[in-house]
Amino acid sequence: MPAFSASAPGKIILLGEHAVVHGYPAIAVPVTQVQAKAIIQANPSGERGSIHIIAPAIGLDSEFGQLPEQHPLRATIQLTLNTLGISHVPACSLQINSDIPVASGLGSGAAVTVATIRVLSTFLGRSLSDQQVSSLVYEIEKIHHGLPSGIDNSVVTFKRPIYFVRGKPIETLKVLQPFTLVIGNTGIASPTSLTVQDVNRARQENPQWVNSIFDEIARNTQRARDLIENGDPDSIGPLLTDNHQLLSELGVSCKELDRLVQAALESGAAGAKLSGGGRGGNMIALVAPHQVQSVIQALKEAGATATFSTVVKQNSN
Ligand code: PMV
Repeated sequence: MPAFSASAPGKIILLGEHAVVHGYPAIAVPVTQVQAKAIIQANPSGERGSIHIIAPAIGLDSEFGQLPEQHPLRATIQLTLNTLGISHVPACSLQINSDIPVASGLGSGAAVTVATIRVLSTFLGRSLSDQQVSSLVYEIEKIHHGLPSGIDNSVVTFKRPIYFVRGKPIETLKVLQPFTLVIGNTGIASPTSLTVQDVNRARQENPQWVNSIFDEIARNTQRARDLIENGDPDSIGPLLTDNHQLLSELGVSCKELDRLVQAALESGAAGAKLSGGGRGGNMIALVAPHQVQSVIQALKEAGATATFSTVVKQNSN
């Protein structure tokens, strides 16, 4: 009996996180060095309708129907079956592996959901368009995040650099000239839902102040888009660093992120910032290719628990 598999990349937000939740633009890119992979295989001796799920990274080994209804994996499977109009599946086992750190701004939840939806629909002999997959993932992101902008499901599903404004069709970011980022993890798991809630509350209490920060973030995002689309990505460094400062003012940085950003800048990065929800998770630094090793070394010395580099380009396979 053949096994089917599907994978999905991680992602990072280059610019515009938090502001994007409130209708401002953001840029995100897929990161293929980290992946979620789902494998499904029929289980001829199993009972019809049984889906046995094994996800070693989160210590899960359970029958689908025994998970709580709001468990993201159960909800993903149920939503996929509802969309396909299928009520009973042939008995099968579904294994999910992911090397994307959880709650760290690298899109782990979205990647697991994309891989699961794709593998299940393929197993059932029905394919879904990227747009359908992205919309389903958005529904599951609501369980993870509460108030997601829709950027994570979009970049992870479409697997290309995007310029994203909530509620508008996604635009592909044209990366004329590849550029290199180093990614450093604080090792602190920080649920995005909490920082999104805090920013939301701050905006309700002081809309003028928060909107003025969002306006500046949006200007940086727009400038970065222009530079990247004009083949000059090496010039976006100061925009990244400025964005980190703006996110700090919003209260979503932390001393560990600040330390990694500082270490990257002092070791020669052209710009650096936190990426994603903040208060932990990952930061990114724009570097010339020959500086990758020295910036990684500096990040490790400043306390990064994991580091890697990625080249942002038009097509990532
Ligand atoms: O999933 P994360 O941590 O990369 O956060 C996504 C970015 C936010 O703007 C903070 C939230 C959102 O839904 O856009």
